[in-house]
Amino acid sequence: MIEDSFGRVHDYLRISLTDNCNFRCFYCMPEEDYDFTPASRLMQTDEIIHLAEIFVAQGVKKIRLTGGEPLVRKDAAKIIEALGKLPVELAITTNGTRINELLPVLQAANIKNINISLDTLQPEKFFMITRRDVFHQVKSNIELLLQHKIGVKLNMVVMKGLNDNEILDFIAWTKHNPIQVRFIEFMPFSGNRWTSNKLFSLEEILAIIQTEHTILPVEAGPNDTAKSYMIPGHDGSFAVISTMTSPFCSTCNRMRLTADGKLKNCLFSKGETDLLTALRAGEEVLPLIRSSIWAKEKELGGQLHTHFENIDAELLTNRSMITIGG
Ligand code: GTP
Ligand code: 5AD
Ligand code: SF4
Repeated sequence: MIEDSFGRVHDYLRISLTDNCNFRCFYCMPEEDYDFTPASRLMQTDEIIHLAEIFVAQGVKKIRLTGGEPLVRKDAAKIIEALGKLPVELAITTNGTRINELLPVLQAANIKNINISLDTLQPEKFFMITRRDVFHQVKSNIELLLQHKIGVKLNMVVMKGLNDNEILDFIAWTKHNPIQVRFIEFMPFSGNRWTSNKLFSLEEILAIIQTEHTILPVEAGPNDTAKSYMIPGHDGSFAVISTMTSPFCSTCNRMRLTADGKLKNCLFSKGETDLLTALRAGEEVLPLIRSSIWAKEKELGGQLHTHFENIDAELLTNRSMITIGG
């Protein structure tokens, strides 16, 4: 069991397979030219599997693969296949572009739910956000997953003045489709143009939805990041991930392994622990994992505070989102 000093048991590992991505979303990656990590500094397939096995032996029950975009990694299929054999729930967060190519691999690894980033239902806005003209490809891949009865959660990062006017359009999509749309409060990371006036809060999101719908809260799972709701008569549902205005750290069970093999004990942790170098040097990594998690701060990496008006994203000590994986 891996525990922190506040008694939180950590049984969920997020592994970033790569910081590379075939999109260029401004809210996720730094504005200036960004150099993706060279392959030699990334965890190799066998290293990922070895580290995953160490975590699983310590009680990890869920592994989520993230990026960058995890499915652009050339050996993604091999990694998914190997991790699919471990006694864990395997999940993935993706931008959705390569689902059609990898569907058989995802099915064979028994992946039953896929989280897909989709911030707009408007093709031109999609291009503006991602710099890639592939809205229809992502949409048809979502439909493909639904046809195959794979659960889909859509991640929509709400940014005031950019896509907050589409909240009801996303809700309309849940009427006849069994998807869960998750509206995510925009979070600050270095280089991501975050300002507090772009934040669209949980309260504001619920108020918009309630102008047209009756909403009913759904009981949350013990470690859920999202507050979930249903709308009577809708096949799908929605949820809100409210890190900024209503954080959920008291039940946090998450650890993050970056693509270059560093363990982060929180999405907003200042420090990180280099597991890959230790592994390559033949050192024991379990004591490093334990001490990293034990040192976890109580809330938000000890860096953010609820007075989000005063946050300056550039003053946070952290990586950019694309190198953490969410
Ligand atoms: P589930 O495993 O289905 O609960 O997925 P998830 O929502 O944790 O993962 P996903 O990769 O889809 O991320 C959705 C949003 O939640 C992103 O904005 C993540 O940055 C955010 N998120 C995921 N885990 C955490 C967390 O531990 N803390 C905070 N504050 N945000 C998180
Ligand atoms: N704030 C909130 N969520 C973000 N994501 C990426 N950048 C941010 C941000 N600045 C989300 C994406 C992706 C998930 C892994 O993280 O929607 O689906
Ligand atoms: Fe856990 Fe950090 Fe997220 Fe809070 S902000 S839920 S402590 S990872």
